[in-house]
Amino acid sequence: MESSDALVFFGATGNLAHKKIFPALAALVSRDQLNIPIIAVSRSGDTREQLLERVRNSLTEHGDFNQDTFDKLSGLIRQVDGDYADINTFRKLKDELKDAKRPIHYLAIPPSLFETVIDSLAEVGCAANARVIVEKPFGRDLASARELNAALHKAFDESSVFRIDHYLGKEAILGLSYFRFANTFLEPIWNRLYINSVQITMAEDFGVESRGAFYEEVGAIRDVVQNHMLQVLAMVAMEPPSGRGTEGLRDEKVKVLRAMPPILPADVVRGQYEGYRNETGVKPDSTTETFVALKAQVDTWRWSGVPFYIRAGKGLATTAMEVYVELRNPPTGVQLGQVGVMASNSLRFRLSPDVSISLSANVKAPGEEMAGREVELSFNDMPSADGLDPYERLLGDAIDGDTTLFTREDFVDEAWKVVANVLGDATAVHPYFRGSWGPEASDRLIGEGGWHNPNENDA
Ligand code: BG6
Repeated sequence: MESSDALVFFGATGNLAHKKIFPALAALVSRDQLNIPIIAVSRSGDTREQLLERVRNSLTEHGDFNQDTFDKLSGLIRQVDGDYADINTFRKLKDELKDAKRPIHYLAIPPSLFETVIDSLAEVGCAANARVIVEKPFGRDLASARELNAALHKAFDESSVFRIDHYLGKEAILGLSYFRFANTFLEPIWNRLYINSVQITMAEDFGVESRGAFYEEVGAIRDVVQNHMLQVLAMVAMEPPSGRGTEGLRDEKVKVLRAMPPILPADVVRGQYEGYRNETGVKPDSTTETFVALKAQVDTWRWSGVPFYIRAGKGLATTAMEVYVELRNPPTGVQLGQVGVMASNSLRFRLSPDVSISLSANVKAPGEEMAGREVELSFNDMPSADGLDPYERLLGDAIDGDTTLFTREDFVDEAWKVVANVLGDATAVHPYFRGSWGPEASDRLIGEGGWHNPNENDA
């Protein structure tokens, strides 16, 4: 694969650039993995000194500031300032690109500007043989996602489009798929015969913070379920990828989504934390959900009948992400003279903030009775969750032209189909207290063992 020879970066003075992109570029530079011109495009009117000051602040606040790395990165940065609606901005960009043959354009800008920017890139001849990186949200439903994709495809074919879902670049999530396929003991039990249910929880103990206006238009289902959570579900449920090339993994993930019937309103409980309506940018009578719990199905030979429960929310009791896989119970404890109820075996993938994998088992509790107690076997010498930052990994991959960890167009489409019936006000929204586990109504969705709350009911 041919690597890109220039990185053009729209939105260089934006929030994402400040928090994620400059620190990731600096990390790549410090590991000698980035040595191409970076053309920072913005409409801020910044001088070069002001731009470099922004970079310095970004690295100080969100990265590891190091003078040597900063100097190297500054040496790569060129600047184009101008309005995105003005074709002259793109003519200046063309001049700055000089003899670059395979530039990559990172659109760290609102999706409403994509089409204008793409059309202008094409008009001045900067889109030919180029690649493009875009950020979520990929639309707000199937129709708008298709419009966005059509705008991208006017100038870039699908193999040149890199849609970032930063969850795919997370060490812990890559670790989950690695664990699945690297361990022989797992495959025989990884199916409906041995697995009772799967729960995927993404809990955040903070609210919408300064993003009220954005969040109000989005809500939890669009913000994290349609993308991050379905990506994780696909990693758990997919068949082993086969074949050469980069598409094997992406093919298998899409197959999972295709096998999922659209989620039904009856299988969804939405919640909104008390006080959300007072957040800046939020409507006083808002019905946007800050929490969602839902039950999904994957109708494949491997998974038919196994419920996949998803829970995601803000203002919850803790900040953690876990995948909890509950195994079926052995037929009975009678042969053992078992007293009391035996807990189900489970596999727990702790994905953040720390990373571990645990297997729970029942052992006999010491004493006269044949009563059991649950113990956990834990693999916790895992790389730390923040080993390689997702943006660092993903930007490096995009520059190298490797699409494996990016969201393909058909995944975006299928993910919107899965949530199509439950977007917006299709279901009621229930209030819940901050610091809780969401509205009590969510308890009616789950089976016998109840929700597994990270940090609470560990063995
Ligand atoms: C983003 C969402 O995509 O992911 C945020 O827009 C959410 O609302 C964030 O907080 C969570 O990412 P992470 O990496 O902190 O788990």
